[in-house]
Amino acid sequence: MVTNLAQTDGDFSLNGLPNAGRMDVICRCVNSAFWLSDNLRNDTVFYIVMRGAPNPPITLKFVGEELKRMSPDERNIASHIKNLLSTKPGKIWQTDGMGLYAKKIDLDGLLGEIKGEIIYLDKNGKIEELKEDFVYVMGDNKGYSEKDIELLSKKGKKVSLGKTEYLSSQCITIINYKLDG
Ligand SMILES: C[S@@+](CC[C@H](N)C(=O)[O-])C[C@H]1O[C@@H](n2cnc3c(N)ncnc32)[C@H](O)[C@@H]1O
Repeated sequence: MVTNLAQTDGDFSLNGLPNAGRMDVICRCVNSAFWLSDNLRNDTVFYIVMRGAPNPPITLKFVGEELKRMSPDERNIASHIKNLLSTKPGKIWQTDGMGLYAKKIDLDGLLGEIKGEIIYLDKNGKIEELKEDFVYVMGDNKGYSEKDIELLSKKGKKVSLGKTEYLSSQCITIINYKLDG
């Protein structure tokens, strides 16, 4: 997920997640990416490229098979993010030891690090068969920036989930549902 809004330091209140550059949207996406009824998706890795003030860009990486002591509520997920952002991540992946990593890297560099065909989600794209080893990219509640679209159109394929515009977290649920078969 790419967001131009999300705050990039830990100086935010867990009681006011929407005021931290829509940290609530991010936490809902993390929930959709990993949580099943009584289990976690161990085979999922979820990245969030964040470009809000005061320290952009910062990318978060959640690794399913390593996640520990995280519960599905937004407040708990946000507390892990807050703690790691407070350590001021640099240009090497830094971890909290519980499956969350952070690094000072933007979308272009990140896409160079991840293996797999890049699919960027857009309701005006083509309907395609979804595959497990694709790298799925999506925007936040404001959508992509012009610069992101320029980059993504060079590196990836524009794919639609249908004509209805969904929340980012709903797109993740739809993709997981389709891949679950
Ligand atoms: C809430 S939507 C963004 C809405 C924003 N107003 C816009 O104009 O882009 C969040 C993200 O979900 C993805 N998305 C939403 N509906 C989709 C659809 N039908 N097909 C593919 N991707 C979709 C896109 O990546 C989008 O950037």
